[in-house]
Amino acid sequence: MALLEVRDLHTSFFTDAGEVKAVNGVSFDLDRGKVLGIVGESGSGKSVTVYSIMQILAPAGRIVSGSIKFDGQELVGAGEKVMRDIRGNKISIIFQDPMTSLNPTYTIGHQLMEAILLHTDRNKEQAWDRAVEMLRLVNVNEPEKRMKQYPHEFSGGMRQRVMIAMALACEPDILIADEPTTALDVTIQAQILELMQQLQRELGMAIIMITHDLGVVAQMCDEIVVMYAGSYCERGTADEIFYDPRHEYTKGLLRSIPTMGTMGQKLQPITGTPIDLLNLPKGCPFAPRCDAAMKICIRQAAENMDLSETHKASCWINVKQKARNIGASAMQKAQKVGMDYDDAADIATAIEAGGLGASVLSAEVHSAQAEEELEAARKRAAKEVQEESAGNLSDGDIVGDGALIHSREMGNRSASAPNPTVHGKKPRKGGKR
Ligand SMILES: Nc1ncnc2c1ncn2[C@@H]1O[C@H](COP(=O)(O)OP(=O)(O)O)[C@@H](O)[C@H]1O
Ligand code: SF4
Ligand SMILES: [Mg+2]
Repeated sequence: MALLEVRDLHTSFFTDAGEVKAVNGVSFDLDRGKVLGIVGESGSGKSVTVYSIMQILAPAGRIVSGSIKFDGQELVGAGEKVMRDIRGNKISIIFQDPMTSLNPTYTIGHQLMEAILLHTDRNKEQAWDRAVEMLRLVNVNEPEKRMKQYPHEFSGGMRQRVMIAMALACEPDILIADEPTTALDVTIQAQILELMQQLQRELGMAIIMITHDLGVVAQMCDEIVVMYAGSYCERGTADEIFYDPRHEYTKGLLRSIPTMGTMGQKLQPITGTPIDLLNLPKGCPFAPRCDAAMKICIRQAAENMDLSETHKASCWINVKQKARNIGASAMQKAQKVGMDYDDAADIATAIEAGGLGASVLSAEVHSAQAEEELEAARKRAAKEVQEESAGNLSDGDIVGDGALIHSREMGNRSASAPNPTVHGKKPRKGGKR
């Protein structure tokens, strides 16, 4: 069981203009001691996701459905008493702008001690010592002197260190950092990130790191959730996201950050504007901005497809690729049993269209289902070929022929699939189709 399990979370704001679906179907796990990055452009629902976890939403906001489990305990609908214990004691949050979270009229020491007294059973003297210790931990020089100063006497970076100290004072299991470095300049940003990494190593807590910048999470995170229009379009280990991105939005984000490989090249920002959350489209929300968009992308959103045990993405290109792989392997098998090239290519094309067609036609757009359909078609065809060829072939070899029948069956159905790719097939005069 993961320390934090978020499942199909939906959070909306009920405004005069209508229901703003800020979070629509976010799921992820966070294990003890791990760092999870939530990445996405401004307005993609990152903050609302974590505010939902903490249940600190603006009055118009409400968790509409889904589950959030902390250490096995359901937090959705748990009530304020449970949440008060969770907030501060179990899960702490630091915000983007430390100035709005610090009270300008009290000293830093007073505010740190207040947090410690509220969340632990230390007395005043112990709280003072703990506050000094925390300031030292976050690398604030002369902590005793700093305790007596006011927020305006601290620089932006120093204030963010104080906020981290405050969030850590009660030794939370999870620290949520909501764009903690956005308001800071680049060198200070690097220092704060380094500090968070150091603290994570020393204290072993789990961290949710929110940022609009993939570069920030590159070195820090074990897993990454990429958010777009309130959903996650891709999630996976840092390696999977960085070395094998499988959603066009993630690919766009990666193209827009500088790397050693892109040195000297112009970075490519993602053009276009984010989607209107009041009127979510029925297709892929990224389609209007996606260079690779196909017709199907506009008609229907691709479901999240498992690419590995840890990697998921919702992009039609993956469904297409999977259908193509199945088609290619069918083609190989068809040729192996002596079928001529054109017929084999017909099969591959039909299977590919079938893979997509099946997904398009069914409400559940899942390639597992497409595969099931293909498997059934293969079996039917195997039977037919066996009858025709008087059983000279083994079952495994004739898999490809299945598509002959399947291709006839698919004649109508594949009309709804986006142009299936013919496997290197030359145009031929008068075919079977
Ligand atoms: N208090 C609110 N009232 C209405 N809509 C809101 C409110 N807060 C957030 N939203 C909506 O939720 C979307 C996601 O916001 P947010 O999670 O803050 O984005 P970000 O990814 O930048 O953190 C916003 O684009 C906005 O449409
Ligand atoms: S599903 Fe289509 S529009 Fe969406 S990212 Fe993939 S290719 Fe682009
Ligand atoms: Mg935010």
